[in-house]
Amino acid sequence: MPSTAPTAVIDLDLPGPVVSRHVYGHFAEHLGRCIYGGFWVGEDSPVPNVRGIRTDVVQALRAMHIPNLRWPGGCFADDYHWRDGIGPRDQRPRMVNSHWGDVVEDNSFGTHEFMDLCELLGADPYVSGNIGSGSVREMSEWIEYLTRGDDSPMAALRRSNGRDEPWRVPFWGLGNEAWGCGGHLRAEQFASMARQYGTYVRNHGDNTVYRIAAGAAEDDYHWTETLMRSFDDLTGPDSRPGPFQAISFHYYTMTGSWGDKGSATRFTTDEWYLALSRAAHVDELLTRHSTVMDRYDPHQKVGLVLDEWGTWWNVEPGTNPGFLYQQNGLRDALVAAVHFDAFHRHADRLVMANIAQTVNVLQAMILTDPDTGALVLTPTYHVFEMNTAHHDAHALTVHLRDVPTTHAGDRPFPTISASATVTDDTALVSLSNLHAQDATTLVLDLRGRDVTGHTARILTAPSLESHNTPAAPTAVAPTTHDGVRPHPRGLQVDLPAHAYVTVSLDLA
Ligand code: AHR
Repeated sequence: MPSTAPTAVIDLDLPGPVVSRHVYGHFAEHLGRCIYGGFWVGEDSPVPNVRGIRTDVVQALRAMHIPNLRWPGGCFADDYHWRDGIGPRDQRPRMVNSHWGDVVEDNSFGTHEFMDLCELLGADPYVSGNIGSGSVREMSEWIEYLTRGDDSPMAALRRSNGRDEPWRVPFWGLGNEAWGCGGHLRAEQFASMARQYGTYVRNHGDNTVYRIAAGAAEDDYHWTETLMRSFDDLTGPDSRPGPFQAISFHYYTMTGSWGDKGSATRFTTDEWYLALSRAAHVDELLTRHSTVMDRYDPHQKVGLVLDEWGTWWNVEPGTNPGFLYQQNGLRDALVAAVHFDAFHRHADRLVMANIAQTVNVLQAMILTDPDTGALVLTPTYHVFEMNTAHHDAHALTVHLRDVPTTHAGDRPFPTISASATVTDDTALVSLSNLHAQDATTLVLDLRGRDVTGHTARILTAPSLESHNTPAAPTAVAPTTHDGVRPHPRGLQVDLPAHAYVTVSLDLA
């Protein structure tokens, strides 16, 4: 093999920070067919369900070890009044879902249904509280309702609705996109409100809440800086973050503008590279938000949360524009893989990330047919599933060299993305060949520990536009990869064009 072969140098004996499993988190909003039809079909549905929740969706998400679920929005969260979603379903008040299709929401999926869903999934709930149109009292009573064990007024109300034991709620969102749909607030104004609301999201009993203040749009570093400045003192080793413990931001990938975002399944090779380069841009956003945070919080007590990310394409032709239903193909899978590589590199500051959204909306894991109920796992689902060994493992630095480069727009674009993590006796290496046409062979230069065995999996398909449908549900699905061979410096890995490969290493 010539010395210019693309090479990934990995020191297996230098484990870095833990990659929280919560960066593989999820998001389910009352939007289109995510909750209704996606998760919730109701107890009387012919679709197999447990207490109204789809059995097949739960099984699929359990299989990829879904760590958490953010709910009820999104923009919907700042219109949502939780008391409308408790008590007998046929007596719950209705509301207008003004953000998403202007449809009438009957509140049949509410707090108890969401907590039941999380228990079925084995996922931690991340409840997004209403700052935009709610009140401090409303938010304070919601956390009491959910987590208090004694005979307090809200605990008693919960019991009267059939739930004796308090739930555990580890994650709480203070508002959503407060600069936009969450109230069109200024950063300074929101920082004050986050301090106030966060104060009243209390820890009841042994439930400790990690409060996440709604954060910036993409590269609005002023928003992050303003929130960081609102902490009274984070300089000393013993001080703790105050009314909130983390700050979020949102970043979506598209190839066009908000008016015409691009198609999920019909795109040029240039748009292929544009999408992947925009996905790779998340690394710069993570670096620069972290740099702002480092100035105020050198001991990294405040977490960074990317609680909405993923591709946002034009809706599928013939579907409701307010429902954000889009196809999901091999390109989306590689967008996800590139994000995860960045997440692993930023494990020191990034504590959670939530893809938007889990079922039937934006970059979904699962698409369900509105007529037949048939379920399809998307290529993005498979990347999440292939990466489960990264959950809570230690990040390893991957030094890439001699990577073939092409262009995305007028910028050079490296066509290999990689990351790796290690546990006591295994390591997982993620390798994406983002090149639209060219295969390559990459040398894994493995140092520091003996590798006693390896297995590999691959996700690829014949065309860039490949995606799964009820008629062809495994058009893009992982298979065993036999293109890994010994090399004097470790292993050499065949990377077909437009492919995602994971190599699992056994370590002595
Ligand atoms: O995920 C869809 C929407 O995108 C969310 O409701 C909002 O927070 C964001 O603008």
